Amino acid sequence: MEQSAQPIGVFDSGVGGLTVVRAVMERLPNEAVLYFGDTARVPYGVKSAATIRRYAREIVEFLVGEGVKLLIVACNSMAAVAGEEIRRAAGEVPVLDVLETGAQAAVATPGVRTVAVIGTSATVESGAYVHRIAQLAPEVRVVARACPLFVPLVEEGWVDHPVTEWVAREYLTPLVAEGIDVLVLGCTHYPLLKSVLTQVVGEGVTLVDSAVAVAEAAARLLAAEGLERQISTAPTHRFVVTDQPPRFHALAERFLARSLPKVEWVKMGD
Ligand code: DGL
Repeated sequence: MEQSAQPIGVFDSGVGGLTVVRAVMERLPNEAVLYFGDTARVPYGVKSAATIRRYAREIVEFLVGEGVKLLIVACNSMAAVAGEEIRRAAGEVPVLDVLETGAQAAVATPGVRTVAVIGTSATVESGAYVHRIAQLAPEVRVVARACPLFVPLVEEGWVDHPVTEWVAREYLTPLVAEGIDVLVLGCTHYPLLKSVLTQVVGEGVTLVDSAVAVAEAAARLLAAEGLERQISTAPTHRFVVTDQPPRFHALAERFLARSLPKVEWVKMGD
C-alpha cells in the first residue's frame, strides 16, 4: 500500500486519546485512524517513568509494525517521560505529541500572564510542561498541579457527576487563587471534563485543549511531507485495545459522537 494511504496511529493509555481522535477526524476527514488504547494497563499517570517508557515502546513498535505513516502521542504522561524512547522506536515515522502542542497553544493565548497546568502525577512531576513553557515564553508564570483522581473518574464515565465537581473544586480552587488566566488540560482525559472545569475556574479562564492543536499540526505535517491520503472513498478506522472493559465501546462512542466499528483486542507485555 502507498505510504500516503496508511493510517495515522494515535495512542493513549485508555479512552482519553479519543479526544485527539475526534479532533483528527474533524480536521482530516479523509484520513484513516488506527487508535490504540492500553486499557489493560491504564492508568499510566501514577506509574514510574521506567514503566511508562517500556509501555510506550511496546505500543510504538506495534503501531509501526501495522504500517502507520504518522504517530500522534495522545497521552501527555508518555510525551512527558518517554519522548526519546518513542522517537527512537518510531524510526523513520514522524511523531507529534500533545505536550508540545499544548505548551505552544498556552503561550499563544492572547494576554496570557499566568498559566496553570493540570495533569497526571507523572506529567506534573516530570516538570516537562513548566520547562517547555519557560523556554517558549520566559515571561509567563506557570503553576502546575497533579489531579490523579480525574482519570479514573473519566474512565468510569462520571464526566458530569457531582463527585467530579467536588474533586475539581479541591484541586482547582488553589490554582484559581493564584489568579490564573489559562488552564492547560495537560492530560487527554481532561477535555471530557470541560464543562465541570469551566464551572469551577470560571468563564474568564481560557481552557487549552491540545487535541485541536495537534490535529492542526498533523494536517500541516502531512501536507508538507506529501503524505495526505489521495483516495476518495471513505477511510476505514480501527480501534485496538489491550482489554475490553464493559464500558469501553459505549464510552468511546460518546467521546467520538459517532458509532464505532468493532473494537479489536491485542495482548501486550507479559
Ligand atoms: N491520558 C493520559 C495523559 O494524557 C494519561 C492517563 C493515565 O493513564 O493516567 O496523560
